Amino acid sequence: MKFFVDTADIKEIEDLAATGLLDGVTTNPSLVAKSGAKDFKSLIKSICEIVSGPVSAEVAATDYATMRKEADVLRAIADNVAVKVPLTADGLKVCKELSDEGTLVNVTLCFSAGQALLAAKAGAAFISPFVGRLDDISTDGLQLIADIVRIYDNYEYFDTEVLVASVRNPLHIIESAKMGAHVMTAPPSVIKQLYNHPLTDKGLAAFVEDWKKTGQSIL
Ligand code: E4P
Repeated sequence: MKFFVDTADIKEIEDLAATGLLDGVTTNPSLVAKSGAKDFKSLIKSICEIVSGPVSAEVAATDYATMRKEADVLRAIADNVAVKVPLTADGLKVCKELSDEGTLVNVTLCFSAGQALLAAKAGAAFISPFVGRLDDISTDGLQLIADIVRIYDNYEYFDTEVLVASVRNPLHIIESAKMGAHVMTAPPSVIKQLYNHPLTDKGLAAFVEDWKKTGQSIL
């Protein structure tokens, strides 16, 4: 499973990139606002210099003509920009055109299997189903991931990767990985939770103490 981080905070991206485990980055207008960055295009350029994998940069407009112009600006920033468009008729029209021209497109705000089918037909590189926001309205977000993975598996000619988004906890990641979802994007705090287990802490403390008793040094 590929790991993307869902943030527009440069420091957080640098820290995670240093682990060697980061495959890409997703941003959205809310995350850019939260980061306080004043120049969106420079921000995306900086992120693309830190991470060699796909960096999702979202269009701001909602009509076809303006989205298309914005997409052209965004994809010119760096080779690893994945243009992010909303799952609307206009968004998918932009997706189809860009995908046909070899640009990576991430279709966002997916909440149904039918929407995911449309995105695959539009040639999206990534479909982003939002598990957490579905859970928030008492609908099983992980069931949507299972449905999309199953549907895409039925058609060899669908190259779209399932990018699990709106991830709120490690279970969302683990269960999606069991289903074979290709990618997940999560906030840094959730990615860091994956490292933790109380038995790891307890076991390590015991090993450190016992090693001291040997009176030896490896170096
Ligand atoms: C996906 O690309 C989105 O940025 C994201 O995962 C949204 O998550 P949220 O529901 O936590 O805002």
